[in-house]
Amino acid sequence: MDGSHITGGAATAPFYLPQGDECDVFAAAAAHRLPVLLKGPTGCGKTRFVAHMAAKLGRPLYTVACHDDLSAADLIGRYLLKGGETVWVDGPLTRAVREGAICYLDEVVEARKDVTVVLHPLTDDRRILPIDRTGEELEAHPDFLLVASYNPGYQNILKTLKPSTRQRFIGVEFTFPRPEHEIPVVARESGLAEERVKPLVRLANKLRAMKGQDLEEGVSTRLVVYAATLIAGGMGVDRAIRTAMIEPLSDDADVKAGLRDLVTAVFG
Ligand SMILES: Nc1ncnc2c1ncn2[C@@H]1O[C@H](COP(=O)(O)OP(=O)(O)OP(=O)(O)O)[C@@H](O)[C@H]1O
Ligand SMILES: [Mg+2]
Repeated sequence: MDGSHITGGAATAPFYLPQGDECDVFAAAAAHRLPVLLKGPTGCGKTRFVAHMAAKLGRPLYTVACHDDLSAADLIGRYLLKGGETVWVDGPLTRAVREGAICYLDEVVEARKDVTVVLHPLTDDRRILPIDRTGEELEAHPDFLLVASYNPGYQNILKTLKPSTRQRFIGVEFTFPRPEHEIPVVARESGLAEERVKPLVRLANKLRAMKGQDLEEGVSTRLVVYAATLIAGGMGVDRAIRTAMIEPLSDDADVKAGLRDLVTAVFG
């Protein structure tokens, strides 16, 4: 298994509230066949955005979660034994290239070097995918679009993209939504009334301000949605915040105590 999955078709687009001009930029990139790199912290809406745009543009979406074991063959395809015969089976990237789909490489910095090598001829004006094993050289379908995402926040010098790779993409930066966006997003995702979401978002922004001091990453919109979902389901606010907005951030008892003080400051 290559760990990819395909979504899309005629279904209505998943809910995504634009933060700025990112939908227009993405649509322009798709129209001009320019690869797109989405940068931003965990849980800020990158994956949701791609799912939304794929549905809006009516293109199938192949998502591949990259990891350090993912090989070029996982993306391109391989010969498999089927009933005594060896048959070639396309990987998700090859399928997307043939069909004119969007291929979304999530956490692309995790991918091995041989993967980035494969991407190069596909992400410049050649738009070709050489398949060494079959001798084929595939020309990308006009609607094929490569999208990649990564989180520049993880302080790992070894895991940045080479300039020759990153300069093949246009870049779109994601940050946590401003309160006037995050409140309706969390309310809609969780079913909790906006009035009750407001203090959660206020707390989230206080927690985010601690990034770099005690915390590696600020609390994500995803976690705020979790907390609001638990509260909407009847859990007490204190417990929901502890389990969804504090425990996931740190294992350090002192840090967690400091975070709980912030909760008291916001909720009294
Ligand atoms: N602008 C938005 N519109 C709608 N939902 C949003 C938006 N921003 C964040 N969300 C919510 O936040 C959740 C997390 O977003 P998502 O999974 O897209 O994050 P991500 O940036 O892909 O994170 P990761 O880097 O960890 O994969 C979504 O499931 C959705 O509920
Ligand atoms: Mg994601």
